[in-house]
Amino acid sequence: MRLRIRPASRLQGAHRVPGDKSLSHRALLFAALAEGTSRLSGWLPAADCEATLRCVRALGIPVERLGPGDLCVHGRGLQGLRAPIAPLDCGGSGTTMRLLMGILAGFPFPSILTGNAQLSRRPMERVAEPLRRMGAEVHTTDGHAPVFVRGGALRGLRYRLPMASAQVKSALLLAGLYAEGPTTVIEPAPSRDHTERLLAAMGATLERDGEGVTVHPGPRLRPLDLHLPGDPSSAAFLLAAAVLIPGSAVRIPGVLLNPTRLGFVEALQAMGAPVAVAVEGEIAGEPVGTLTACAADRLGPLEVSGPLVPRMIDEFPIFAVVATQAEGTTRVRDAAELRVKESDRIAALAAELRRMGARIEEHPDGFTVHGPTALRGAVVHSHGDHRLAMALAVAGLVAEGGTTVEDAGCIGDSFPGFVETLQALGAEVEALEDPPRP
Ligand code: S3P
Repeated sequence: MRLRIRPASRLQGAHRVPGDKSLSHRALLFAALAEGTSRLSGWLPAADCEATLRCVRALGIPVERLGPGDLCVHGRGLQGLRAPIAPLDCGGSGTTMRLLMGILAGFPFPSILTGNAQLSRRPMERVAEPLRRMGAEVHTTDGHAPVFVRGGALRGLRYRLPMASAQVKSALLLAGLYAEGPTTVIEPAPSRDHTERLLAAMGATLERDGEGVTVHPGPRLRPLDLHLPGDPSSAAFLLAAAVLIPGSAVRIPGVLLNPTRLGFVEALQAMGAPVAVAVEGEIAGEPVGTLTACAADRLGPLEVSGPLVPRMIDEFPIFAVVATQAEGTTRVRDAAELRVKESDRIAALAAELRRMGARIEEHPDGFTVHGPTALRGAVVHSHGDHRLAMALAVAGLVAEGGTTVEDAGCIGDSFPGFVETLQALGAEVEALEDPPRP
């Protein structure tokens, strides 16, 4: 699929975004380990989460589907997974593979986890190595998928993560539910803490101190009755479009507002954009509410480094687009993790935004953008990366002339309905099927 985008005059209106991806993976996986039936609505029916659903079913957990995002999960308790009869296909989803590695480390049967070519390029030793220290047998393929896991009697571990990663932290906390003694994970900077909040809401025993988070081996997990809030990482594209396009005003209700996910909103505010956060309630220990954004009169540059980086780790593609419109030099450092996401986001962003006229330099751990530049419409490529595809689509709304984003089907990995949402807000965006190959 390709996207064709025309410059937008203004975006206006209120629109919801689909359920949060991180919470959708976790709610389903943890419901599978709970004692009894969980009901999940607003669950994200996107390719990455469908991979988790396939794996959960392959591990013997019955899941009824009452609608695309409406699931009934018949959990069988912490010990209730069954040996899969075939490799578990995680598709392109790093969260699926890494969290499952942690859970399967608690089971004595052997499992193999596989993924598509893109996922098979991403590092898995960061999870395998500490799980081995806990006593699990884990083999990677030169550090990558396919991954073999056979768990057993695990020992609790005190582990200092070399990088801020919620996926690695979550894998170790989940394995900690099955270990003898406490497991403590210490991060260089706080990453998203959904695993901690959701497990605690289900009855697990977790403690935080200044340094890290500790989980104690597993009391029974209570089932969930959860309506999942919208994904702030999807909302980010709409906020950015509203900030960049004169005359715009956009409201997004029902969004997850966990502070570990709001770094991009902080960054926009620091650049002078009129963006507001209104917390209106709580779901399973997570703040939820409304995000609003209006067109900015002027955007200033920003230096992004240190603990802000993990709080906006998925938003750097759209942040780079915003930076092209800021007056001055915007620098991102301490973000080498961007090189091992769905694409090498530093290299891919620099290559594609340059096609549109942006002045952007790559660094080993980030990038520098000199703004403002008048972007030109161009034919650009997603590199198979959903967040890059959507960021380039927003760049197309701001650019002069038409833009085509090639290979944009990957948007369905996290934001089904992206095109329709932009259209509803007033943008001229069109999804075109690829011509049949001869
Ligand atoms: C995620 C954690 C982050 C993030 C990813 C989702 C999660 O990855 O980039 O999109 O749900 O735990 P890392 O743990 O690799 O930083």
